[in-house]
Amino acid sequence: MKKLSARRRHPLAAVVVLLLALAATGGLYAAFAPAGKAQADETAQSLAIEEGKKLYAVGCASCHGTGGQGTTDGPSLVGVGSAAVDFQVGTGRMPAQQPGAQVPKKKVIYSQAEIDQLAAYVASLGAGPVTPTDKQVDPAGADVANGGELFRTNCAQCHNFTGKGGALTEGKYAPDLEGVSSKHIYEAMQTGPQSMPSFPDTVMPEQEKKDIIAYIESVNGDETESPGGLALGGLGPVSEGLFAWIFGLGALVAVAVWVAAHTAKAKKS
Ligand code: HEC
Ligand code: HEC
Repeated sequence: MKKLSARRRHPLAAVVVLLLALAATGGLYAAFAPAGKAQADETAQSLAIEEGKKLYAVGCASCHGTGGQGTTDGPSLVGVGSAAVDFQVGTGRMPAQQPGAQVPKKKVIYSQAEIDQLAAYVASLGAGPVTPTDKQVDPAGADVANGGELFRTNCAQCHNFTGKGGALTEGKYAPDLEGVSSKHIYEAMQTGPQSMPSFPDTVMPEQEKKDIIAYIESVNGDETESPGGLALGGLGPVSEGLFAWIFGLGALVAVAVWVAAHTAKAKKS
């Protein structure tokens, strides 16, 4: 016993313990480390790019050029990012069919897996806005009131107060936002399709985008109820005021006429 405790206090004991501990940690790490995970991710990524390139050559190159450099029929896709592809193809705008003032939404013809591959290929041409994750676009717990305020300052001039959409100049239009997925709303803000300005994260951080998504969802969809009665199309105070004037005053005039007619009759008889 005495011998052992003497040895424990040997000046080199601490060093030996430390070395043993280091060796054990290193061994454990080597045994449990996700061996080659990074490498596997990389191969999956380059496979997606390869597949995307093939889809692109068939469906998109005729307008956007073989290397995405653009042609007279379509803009360059270098640097538009995966988010732009996910938005454009995921809402059925792309592939475009015929030239016009604005490419309309159509039935989506690619699967989400194919869209991801196309997006991976286009993103490989130049860095741009990245497709958001489910967590980034989830409006749970967001501030609806702040979203409404941001929407009225940044979006309502084109999309109307409750996102019902509206006409712009030269045959263009800002679409109705009802039924648009939160991911596509987020991507529209990131990429600014067509005549819509873009709201990158530096200008409008993720949380503000979530607030806006929460607002749009709160004024749309089935659960929408209008606490004040008829929503009148959500066209805002001017149209609602006009409604009150025309129908309210109209009703008063009608009542006045009725009263006058009846008093006249009463006098005659
Ligand atoms: C018939 C020609 C045509 C085809 C085919 C086509 N595009 Fe487009 N694309 C356009 C035009 C034109 C625009 C500009 C749209 C607008 O201004 O409304 C555009 C815009 C885009 C944008 C937005 C670029 C930006 O600056 O945000 C993306 C992304 C895109 N296309 C991807 C694709 C992909 C991916 C395919 C293949 C699946 C495809 N397009 C097929 C003509 C085409
Ligand atoms: C200058 C007018 C303008 C402003 C401001 C604007 N948008 Fe847009 N927005 C448009 C136009 C035009 C389109 C259609 C683009 C297209 O079809 O390529 C659009 C498309 C969209 C879409 C896609 C809808 C769909 O049907 O797929 C969403 C979502 C959207 N906008 C949200 C917003 C939000 C949120 C804001 C404010 C942060 C905003 N927009 C501000 C003009 C505008």
